[in-house]
Amino acid sequence: MLMRGRRWLVEIEDTDESFRCEENEHLLQGMLRMGKKGIPSGCHGGGCGVCKIRILDGEAEFGVMSAEHVNGEERERGYALACRTWPRSDLRIRVVGKMARNVLRPKRKYGFV
Ligand code: FES
Repeated sequence: MLMRGRRWLVEIEDTDESFRCEENEHLLQGMLRMGKKGIPSGCHGGGCGVCKIRILDGEAEFGVMSAEHVNGEERERGYALACRTWPRSDLRIRVVGKMARNVLRPKRKYGFV
């Protein structure tokens, strides 16, 4: 039998979108499952900095991440790398840095106006 962890709701403040994330998967995995085009998926190891976010509300656990991309002062203000962040409660986040350009891109509308 497959054991599943708790699932938390992660809300992206900028777009009013949300996704579910298991406690044993990092936030970038959950974001990629949303199916939005252009979410940069880099090293998945906390080294390239493309998945920078800011946690506005909620609890999370963090892995080692590059101080070049998230310094100590930023960590205290809630900044983190999504690939090194595991949810421990429902979260409200903001997407920043290189990832913001694609995540915050408005959805294309098709059809006749
Ligand atoms: S994907 Fe490289 S730091 Fe997150």
